[in-house]
Amino acid sequence: MLTVIKADITTLHVDAIVNAANNSLLGGGGVDGAIHRAAGPELLEECRKLGGCATGDAKLTKGYRLPAHYVIHTVGPVWHGGTSGEPGLLASCYRRSLEIAESTGAKSIAFPGIGTGVYGYPVDHAAKIAVDTVRETLKSCPGIEKVVFCCFSEKDRAVYEGLIG
Ligand code: AR6
Repeated sequence: MLTVIKADITTLHVDAIVNAANNSLLGGGGVDGAIHRAAGPELLEECRKLGGCATGDAKLTKGYRLPAHYVIHTVGPVWHGGTSGEPGLLASCYRRSLEIAESTGAKSIAFPGIGTGVYGYPVDHAAKIAVDTVRETLKSCPGIEKVVFCCFSEKDRAVYEGLIG
């Protein structure tokens, strides 16, 4: 089941939330900063041991003080106009995150709009890739029952609603 809400992703009671991180995995602004603040310093400690993350890939940590049991840290592409491999890299973020969630036994997962903040990915393009890739990848993730697209603005929520109906 695919759902859309407008919320702060750090408040969600799901098995896993996805973080829109950077290659260092050592924290940042936006949703990354919010997740680290809410999870507490143990999250950064665990992230330090991961050796960073390639763009389009994802890595797993525990959720510490978050209601979510796990955080899946993924790194979206920086938007350079769309002809530098951005669509494939963004799709890979959603695919890898779901594969990791499936392998942990998570039944529910929430995604922020990866890449659509500081990294500049236009939200309408990004949302289409997000929804299409999640629908496709779920076919090989039988354990995942619920995927939440967690938007941070009413405008973004409307874009996702238009795609999911
Ligand atoms: N809950 C849900 N969504 C949020 C929240 C929140 N608490 N806070 C922001 N958003 P961004 P990126 C939305 O910039 O574009 C970081 O510094 C936000 O409105 O967080 O992938 C990293 O360390 C937007 O729709 O991530 C990287 O350096 C979406 O989350 C860089 O930013 C993503 O915005 C990654 O940039």
